[in-house]
Amino acid sequence: MPQYYILFLFSLIFFSSSSHASVQDFCVADLKGPDGPAGYPCKSPANVTVSDFVFSSLAKGGNTTNIIQAAVTPAFVAQFPGVNGLGLSLARLDLAPGGVIPFHTHPGASEILVVTRGHITAGFVSSANTVYLETLKKGDVMVFPQGLLHFQVNAAKIHSSAFVSFSSASPGLQILDFALFANNLPSALVGQTTFLDLAQIKKLKGVLGGTG
Ligand SMILES: *[C@@H]1O[C@H](CO)[C@@H](O)[C@H](O)[C@H]1NC(C)=O
Ligand SMILES: *[C@@H]1O[C@H](CO)[C@@H](O)[C@H](O)[C@H]1NC(C)=O
Repeated sequence: MPQYYILFLFSLIFFSSSSHASVQDFCVADLKGPDGPAGYPCKSPANVTVSDFVFSSLAKGGNTTNIIQAAVTPAFVAQFPGVNGLGLSLARLDLAPGGVIPFHTHPGASEILVVTRGHITAGFVSSANTVYLETLKKGDVMVFPQGLLHFQVNAAKIHSSAFVSFSSASPGLQILDFALFANNLPSALVGQTTFLDLAQIKKLKGVLGGTG
């Protein structure tokens, strides 16, 4: 019936315009404000420019001359204020031959990775302790569900790189070895809670900057 169709269209237009009346187009981060669970407070729209929505630092890889022989270049809200409140962000991974992104989690986001150069062996461990492991080649994509421990290692003899996207503007990062060996938690307690021997704990604390 045409009348019903017209009525339907009218209600569609009415409801969609009224329900969007108070929605903001964007909330570019005012990085001087506090970063809460809902993100940063919004910068005044009068002060927002296109540069808030453009990030140009992923063209080149980060410096891989370090203990992990790898670099993560983030385009999270702290670097890229335009993603504030949008529930997404990006980073670039660079792995020299032998490079490792050690076991870590992002408490606030799932991650999706696309290999752009070389080969990367990536894996995650589910909360049932099942391992999901694959060696990815250029163009391959792998997803890492939110909160689960995962890693990436270079599986090529050349430099490998990837771009990763997150389902949060501020995915968070906790690196397992740093949590265990890069702080002042007493070594005896680290041993007691991980069942590792004291010599190994002291050695890793020495390498990663932990004390105690
Ligand atoms: C816009 O930026 C200028 C210069 O940083 C600042 O003085 C002004 O207070 C800002 N305006 C608003 C409304 O935040
Ligand atoms: C990379 O980092 C190393 C170690 O910190 C430093 O010696 C080197 O100069 C850096 N390279 C570049 C291109 O910044």
